[in-house]
This record gives sequence, structure tokens and C-alpha cells, in this order.
Amino acid sequence: MIKRGLSFLFALMFVFSVNVKADEGMWLLSLIGKNYQQMKAQGLKLTPEDIYNVNHASLKDAIIGLGNAQQPFGFFCTGEIISSKGLVLTNHHCGFGQIQAHSSVEHDYLKDGYFAKSYDQEFPADGMVMTRLVSMKDVTKEVLEGVTDDMSETDRAEKIASNIKTIIKAAKKESKYGADVKTMFAGNQFFLFRYETFKDIRLVGAPPQAVGKFGGDTDNWMWPRHTGDFSMFRIYANKDNKPAKYSKDNVPYNPIHHLPVSLKGYEKGDFAMVMGFPGSTERFLTSYGVKEALDISNPTTVKIRTEKLRLMKEDMNTSDKIRIQYASKYAQTANYWKYFQGQSKALKKNHIYEKKQAQEKKLQDWINSDETRKAKYGQAFPLISKFYEDNKSQQLAYTYLLEALIQGPEIILFPMKLRQFAGLLEKPKENEELIKKNAENAIESSKEHWKDYNLPTDKKIFASLLEMYYKNVPAEYQLPIFKDVVAKKFKGNFNKFADEVYKKSVFASEDKFNKFMEKPTKKVLEKDYAYILMKQTIDTYFKLGGGKTDDFRKGKRLFEAALLAMNTDKIYYPDANSTIRLTYGNVGDYQPADAVHYNYYTTTKGILEKEDPTNDEFIVPAKLKELIQNKDYGQYIDKDGTMHVAFTTNNDITGGNSGSPVINGNGELIGTAFDGNWEAMSGDIVFENELQKCINVDIRYTLFIIDKLGGAKNLIDEMTLVK
Ligand code: ARG
Repeated sequence: MIKRGLSFLFALMFVFSVNVKADEGMWLLSLIGKNYQQMKAQGLKLTPEDIYNVNHASLKDAIIGLGNAQQPFGFFCTGEIISSKGLVLTNHHCGFGQIQAHSSVEHDYLKDGYFAKSYDQEFPADGMVMTRLVSMKDVTKEVLEGVTDDMSETDRAEKIASNIKTIIKAAKKESKYGADVKTMFAGNQFFLFRYETFKDIRLVGAPPQAVGKFGGDTDNWMWPRHTGDFSMFRIYANKDNKPAKYSKDNVPYNPIHHLPVSLKGYEKGDFAMVMGFPGSTERFLTSYGVKEALDISNPTTVKIRTEKLRLMKEDMNTSDKIRIQYASKYAQTANYWKYFQGQSKALKKNHIYEKKQAQEKKLQDWINSDETRKAKYGQAFPLISKFYEDNKSQQLAYTYLLEALIQGPEIILFPMKLRQFAGLLEKPKENEELIKKNAENAIESSKEHWKDYNLPTDKKIFASLLEMYYKNVPAEYQLPIFKDVVAKKFKGNFNKFADEVYKKSVFASEDKFNKFMEKPTKKVLEKDYAYILMKQTIDTYFKLGGGKTDDFRKGKRLFEAALLAMNTDKIYYPDANSTIRLTYGNVGDYQPADAVHYNYYTTTKGILEKEDPTNDEFIVPAKLKELIQNKDYGQYIDKDGTMHVAFTTNNDITGGNSGSPVINGNGELIGTAFDGNWEAMSGDIVFENELQKCINVDIRYTLFIIDKLGGAKNLIDEMTLVK
């Protein structure tokens, strides 16, 4: 699952879980010793040191977080190194943006796929960075130094922030590695992570979309699945094998460890573990939060996205150019559009609200039965429930702000790039040189944006989504421009307003933007409606406190601390927060409903069963069809005589885990995790023991596609195959 993309918003810190079964749990690597006996009993043949070790090569050295240059540690997906030449395997939908960026009507790699047959055929993956965990360490004591219980939340946050700054600074002084501190259990624990980030990444290959995204949105978030959801990259390093900016002189990275690839397959019940960078879970969301999601944020998000998708699709259907331009944006929007629908459905079906209430009652009773506990944790529930009670209209406004404005038409967020630049324009004479240089940079770095921008499409989205915001958001959170300009000057007509904006704004087209950049002035900027919209959107975002309040954060922290204190005999894992985790369990099937049984693997037979040449989600490329019909599977065939495509395990994953390796008991790669299942879409809130599955591409299907469909035997040859 790919992480939900909120590029400039920092993920809030949420927390973890009770009721730990073998399969549930996103475990911290440095503490994996606690789980070791259980893992061993289930079939793990490695030692804890084989998994995480700071002094020797271990599995973690082959696990890679995918980020972008601006947010290197905001891992949106996971990858694994599978050769001594820095070859990285991840999902197709994780590489989608890069495949799309290199595609054009003439070279449509989305449609046709692409595999480099030699290093010089690999494409620079501009903006993508890949990070390896060097070490991690509990720094709770240092972070909470000087923090007291009677401090105000604001003072507490300030103290913590300044302690973290000191810790990071010291860590960076100690070595060249990157450093990040993340909280676990909502402010109750803190860990320091040391990272090595590689900046020269190249796109190596991807199957055609008809393989990598087979089943499209129809099959998304569902099992049975027949998708070859993979793509490949390569990490390059300088001559000393160290991270370096892109250069022709860089060489393939020689990793500390790479995963051997098993051709032996798996059986039901086999041990399987997944290591990766899950983005966020809310396993300790309260019943109040569940209700809020059901009543407000989920339906609102779905409503806005339905409209956005409709408008994009309308234009994508008119030309190949627009189809390619909007392919990645469409897929991203559609992914969580379907997710939130599934989540609401599953929350109801799996009675999550009632389950949460029961848990909370237990905790309440535990707190109330003792005066010391009452003094310590008594505020947890009142703070949380009051927040949800008071914040209904804020929550609605916040959802609209995110979905209709921040992630709405691109013309709103694009001018954000110029916020600092605008400062320079205050003193044009003094800053002449700087302005010139920055303007040139802005023109250059915006090329990517314009390549995938179609003015009429953005304009349609603008008119429709802004009107939705205007009509549905309470007055208190309206943008001033809607009241002062749209209502007055344009009589509330958003189409007319859009006409004006896209005719006049310097952000409406590449031409206008570049012309403005040749002679940028503060006056033009400040009169520009798009620039004004951007500023008011950001102001409103801060007014809404990022959707939460200090009181809420405090309530949440106490709530989680109380849970830990109530169940001292349990091993807890913190909620996902884009830090590396390990989840273990086994390969297995499930029963989604009465009298229904789903097998734990799919085969190529199902690809032909699903084939529908009239539906672009279910096209089967002619050559693939031929390979399947001729059973031309080579060494990738299963011992049962069929070609497996995907399989299910009960590993505990979420968005950000996309592309994570599924590893057998010997530490060998058997698959790549890429999705969760429809029946357990409430899984980010409560792990569903009987229902929740992790959906994986069988590594042998991946190799079959590379070798037989892609003809890239060169890539197979550099892997370490276990036969
Ligand atoms: N739901 C999966 C994820 O979040 C797969 C998304 C890509 N596939 C698709 N049909 N859009 O990672």
C-alpha cells in the first residue's frame, strides 16, 4: 500500500495496540529480540542479529525507504536491494510517477513497459531518493529532559522540539549520516534514527501497465488479485561507494547486504515476514474518532474525490497526451478514494465503534478505580471527547481544505514555491542578483509541473471544487477571497471567477509564468488571485491547527500512557509513523464470508479469466497471453505445475509498506507486498485477526515477467537465485 500523499503536511503522531497475536504488530527492529522466541517457533531460521545489527551486515541493510529530495525521510514506499549492483525492487505503483515522468505519446512506457538492457539505458529518477537505516536508539530520556507534568502543552511541545534539535545536531556532528527523531506512543517515547540517503537513483524497468496495474481500480484493495505490481530502480554511488548527487561518473552501489531470491515458493502456513516503512496507522483511535471518520471525514473525502476523478477522466478520455499527463494524479486520487469507501464499510461491518467503546470502558474503569491513576490519567477521556464534540465544523472545514484546495486544482499549491522568493521582491534593487538566479531556477524546476498540466482540466477542477468548498464550509473557515471577490465581483459564479483566474494569473500557464519570471514584481504577485488563494489556504490550514488541538494531543498521550500502564504484561508496538518495522506471521488463506473460501494464491489462469479487451483495466498483452497459453514459464513455475501470480499472508502492513519484501524463514525474498484486502479495510484502526491479509506479488511472477515478457535476462543474471 502506498502512503497517502500529503506532501507538505507532517504526519501527526498516532499510536499502537493491544491484543497482540502472532500476525498483528509492526515491530521496532532494535527491540525485535522480544519477539524472537515466537518468530523462531513459527519457522524463522535467522537470529535477531541477522535482522538488525549495527556492526555487521543484516537484513535491514537491504531494506530501502523511498522518499523525495524535499522530504527524504517521508517514506512513501519501500524497496529492497536484490543484487550486489544496487538493484532495487519495489511496486509498479511506487515507481508510477517516475515511469509516467519518462513517458510521452512517442515513448509510452506506461502502456508498453520498459526494461533497461544495460546501465546506460537506465533513466535518472529525478527527485527520488532512497534511504537505508544505519541505526536506531531510544532517546526518550534525552527528549523529555526538563519536561514536567504541570507544563502547558505549548511549553511542553517547545521544550521537546528544542531537545530534539539538540539531539539531531549532536548526531549529525558525530557522523555524516542523516538523523531524525520520531515519537512512539503519541509523545510517550522517542527514537533517534540514523540514515544513509542515496540521491542518484535510476529507473531500471517496469512492466506494461496491463501487468503492473492489471485489474486497475476495480481490483484495487481486493483479493483475488492478478497484478504484477513491481518496478525496478538502481542506486548509484560515487567511486567510494558513498551517496552522491547524480553524475555520469557514479557507479552502481555495492550494498552491505542484498536479499537472495528464492525460486522455491511457499506452502500454506510457512513463516513469512515483511520489513518496510509503514506510514501511519491509528490502532488506538478512540470510538469518538471512529464516529468522526464515519460521519464527517470519510464521506466528505469521497464526495470531493468523486468529482475530481470525474473531471480528470473526462479529459483523459479525449487524448493520449492528457491521459499520460494525468495518469499518476488520477491513480493517486483514486487509490484512497476507494480506500475511504472500503474503510467506512468495514468499520460498520466489523463493529469497530462498539469494540472501541468496550475497550474504552475497560480503561475508564481501570483509571477510576484508583486515585493515583485518576490524578495521572483522569483527563484523557474528557480531553479527547471534548475535542470531537467541539470540532465537528473544524473537521469538516479541514477535510474540505485538504481535499478541495490543497489537493484540488494545482494552481493553488503551485505558487507556494514562490513564498520565499516573494520576500526577495520586497527589495528588488538590493536583491537583483538573487532574484535573477532564483527566477531562472524556478523556471527550470517548474518544467516538470507544466509537462503534466493541462489548463482546461485544472480550470474545471478549480471551478467545481472551490464552489464545493464555498457551499459547504462554515463561514468561520471561508477564504476571505470567496466572500470579498467571488461573491461580490462574480456574483458567486465560480465559472466566471475561473475564467478570470486562468486568463490573468501568472500561474495559469508556462508562458505566463516564464514571462513573469523575466521581470518579477511584488505588485503583480500580490494582485494575482492564485497567489492570494495559496496564501489564504495556508493561513486557514494553520487556523485549523492541522486538524488537531493541543488539548487533543495531551488527551491522546495520556490515553496511550494509561493503556500501556494497564497492560504491563503485553508487548506493545507503536503506531506506524514512517519508521522501519518488521511484521511476521505466515502464508495463508481466509474466509471472507459465510460459505466463501479464498485460496492463498492466484495463478496465470485467472489472468485469462479476467481478460476483457473492451475494458482497459483488464487488457492482457498479446505476448503475455501467448506465454500463458504455451505454459512458457521456464524456471519460474511452481512445483504444482502452475504459474503463481500473487499470494496472501497475515502480515500487518499499511500505506508506505508498498514494495516491501516478503521474506521466508531463511531470509530469502519470496514476494513483494503491495496491498490489503477489502474485507479488512478497517485494518488501519483495528487489526482483524481472521480477515486481514497482506497481498503480495509472487517473486517468481516478477522474474517471469522480467525474463520472458521483458527479455531482460541481464537483470535476472545479477540476482542471487536460490533454486
Ligand atoms: N491499494 C494499493 C496501495 O495503496 C495499490 C494501489 C495501486 N493500484 C491501483 N489499482 N491503483 O498501495
